[in-house]
Amino acid sequence: MKIAVIGTGYVGLVTGTCLAETGNEVTCVDIVEEKVNKMRNGEMPIYEPGLDILFLRNIKQERLTFTTNLAEAIAPAKVIFLALPTPPGADGAADLSYVLGAAKDIAKLITEYKVIVTKSTVPVGTADKVTAVMKANTDVPFAVVSNPEFLREGVAVEDFMKPDRVVIGTTDEKARQVMGDLYAPYVRQGNPILYMDERSSELTKYAANSFLATKITFMNEIANMCELVGADVDMVRKGVGADGRIGKRFLFPGVGYGGSCFPKDVQALSKAAEENKYDFKILNSVMEVNETQKKRLVVKMREYYGEGGLKGKHFALWGLAFKPETDDIREAPALYIIDELLAAGATVTAYDPEGMPNVKKLLGDKISYATNRYNALDDADALLIVTEWPVFRTPDFDFMKEKLKSPVIFDGRNLYDLDRMKEYGFYYNSIGRKT
Ligand code: UGA
Repeated sequence: MKIAVIGTGYVGLVTGTCLAETGNEVTCVDIVEEKVNKMRNGEMPIYEPGLDILFLRNIKQERLTFTTNLAEAIAPAKVIFLALPTPPGADGAADLSYVLGAAKDIAKLITEYKVIVTKSTVPVGTADKVTAVMKANTDVPFAVVSNPEFLREGVAVEDFMKPDRVVIGTTDEKARQVMGDLYAPYVRQGNPILYMDERSSELTKYAANSFLATKITFMNEIANMCELVGADVDMVRKGVGADGRIGKRFLFPGVGYGGSCFPKDVQALSKAAEENKYDFKILNSVMEVNETQKKRLVVKMREYYGEGGLKGKHFALWGLAFKPETDDIREAPALYIIDELLAAGATVTAYDPEGMPNVKKLLGDKISYATNRYNALDDADALLIVTEWPVFRTPDFDFMKEKLKSPVIFDGRNLYDLDRMKEYGFYYNSIGRKT
């Protein structure tokens, strides 16, 4: 099938590449010429494990091409994916100007039936808005489909190639068939393609992300309770997760959820509720608790060092990306922690396997950057762990003790065994466990 993907951000690039991998001919469109030229030369603009192999293979085999020319991309395409940004506007609601702008441009160019797919996370009612904008600009028949993505950064290729489910929101019979054919190769194991109306599909995306954010937040509060009553959240997590109705995934407490999706989507759903005169109380609490949780490590540090005790201290920080296997630092808890520490008069040296270039662009020399995990520890009063990169899991603890000024670790991701840390002689403060 011939496909056009508009927007080569995270979602667009993964979608385009993975669709080419099953034999479709995909043209990706972006307005930034430099980016398009780089991609043509096989340079990937994002870091995503496993994507590079598929990206290069499909470029080489000429199933994946790039252009700045919208008309050229959509003329042969049966399906046009909109994978454009929907940033939160000033009022917290998603800004649809890119999506609606593209819909208008596409409408003016089409000469035959096309399936237009919204892939970006868009508020309920967007398919109707896209339809209205297009109708105002063309008489050619078309269908608008809501097909939300459920990709996790870091494992996006696996999530696309073997999705738990594919959601297709359309009431257009022809579009339903086209989309079913397109996704059939990805659900051969038997996972469902769920057909529904556009609005249900749009809400499914927000509901899924908000539910997961709530699940994490609930565990973060349980972790805080564990500390107060002397329980161990690792035990509690396993105990509750073994119940099939709850499930063991997404129960890991930490320094709050971050990234480009959960914070934005929880806020957008809460805002949408408000616009419909509904007070979505749980979501409002989730946002409030998450704000507090992001600073949880600093609260622990303040308790340890006493009032004013952070001033003049130097800290090592492992992990800047909002989660492992990505260079994405959007809404990363590390940034909030760094802000608090700098404001309290402390200094920070950070290390992250992929996230440092992005943080350098943002913070410049407000903090120092280490060339490897151990160098970050030089002259540090304590180590803070904020992202659970695999490389942090089994370090040389004796060497760390030699490097650190004092053997103190504040761990926001519960990487280490409590007894082992005691044996090594560390003061080890983690989330929801005994100190
Ligand atoms: C999330 C969803 O998991 C995807 O299904 C969805 O498609 C995507 O948003 C999106 O809307 O595009 P992502 O933001 O890449 O994916 O990352 P997650 O792995 O879901 O992690 C989100 C945050 O939750 C991270 O800050 C992570 O550290 C935190 N988290 C996750 C926890 O604190 N505990 C957990 O047990 C799991």
